[in-house]
Amino acid sequence: MKHMLPPLPYDDAALEPHIDAQTMMLHHDKHHASYVANLNSTLEQFPELHERNALWLLLNLSKVPQKIRTAVRNNAGGHVNHGLFWRAMSPAASGAPAGPLAGAIDRDFGGLEQFKARFDDAGGKLFGSGWVWLTRAQRDGGRLQVSTTSGHDNPLMQGHFPILVNDVWEHAYYLKYENRRADYLNSWWSVVNWQEAARRFEHSDHSAEHDWEGEGGSL
Ligand SMILES: [Fe+2]
Repeated sequence: MKHMLPPLPYDDAALEPHIDAQTMMLHHDKHHASYVANLNSTLEQFPELHERNALWLLLNLSKVPQKIRTAVRNNAGGHVNHGLFWRAMSPAASGAPAGPLAGAIDRDFGGLEQFKARFDDAGGKLFGSGWVWLTRAQRDGGRLQVSTTSGHDNPLMQGHFPILVNDVWEHAYYLKYENRRADYLNSWWSVVNWQEAARRFEHSDHSAEHDWEGEGGSL
């Protein structure tokens, strides 16, 4: 199985002015594409891993030969996380969650604005390259949490199910926002695909990892 770059679900310019077309083109066509290409070349000499999807590789690093483990972690993670990130945004953003996800955000954060502030604070404080997430714990009553990961790690590696994600690597925003990460984080809410977040939330209450194996296979 060759890992494939998924097409963007909208045009490069669709998220303007919040995310500029040049950034989207470079981010998807160059950065994400390079993770896919590097993952394929890393796995070339390891046919026993050719049938495994990127999420499986990321969640089963102990079964990956040591000599390629770091490369698989970085590139499978980059592939999985960017696939999630493109779908976390939409040019038809509604501005706010609805249904059970909205209720859970109220319950666990005290309201949407409080959740956004927590998310922006975590994204702003993240040192170096990484991701900021809204996740759901697979234990503890399925509470929502804000967390960050470094590099291209994914919260499922710690048993937390991703609901929403923002990319805070500099390549995600530097052309337009330069060093103003806080402005990027704030503007990003205008393009959040809350319908997708709600769909993930509704999938997350049972057999989450199984569902994600399926999604990983389609990346
Ligand atoms: Fe990125």
